[in-house]
Amino acid sequence: MSNPQWTDAAAESDIPDDDVIGREVEGREVALYKTRGEIYATDNICSHGQAELCDGFLEGYEIECPMHQGRFDIRNGQPACAPVTEAIRSYPVKIEGGRVFLALG
Ligand code: FES
Repeated sequence: MSNPQWTDAAAESDIPDDDVIGREVEGREVALYKTRGEIYATDNICSHGQAELCDGFLEGYEIECPMHQGRFDIRNGQPACAPVTEAIRSYPVKIEGGRVFLALG
């Protein structure tokens, strides 16, 4: 991804500290996280079922799915705890002028 296209997803201030929100960005359901002062973005739908991760519990760099308590690393979308075995997508983030931009690829 040498020349990513950046899409405006939210205001930085829309995302509370140590929390997660869900947004639809260009038809895609994404979860936006703020943890330790950094913003991360992944798909919002769990790879195990139809649960929305924005309804889950964020702890450090891990989001816990509200349905069966599987966990993903929000930095790369990798599964961190059973029963999830399949990664979700994570998206590069840049902050500009107080806005959060995603490279949806
Ligand atoms: Fe997310 Fe089952 S739906 S862990």
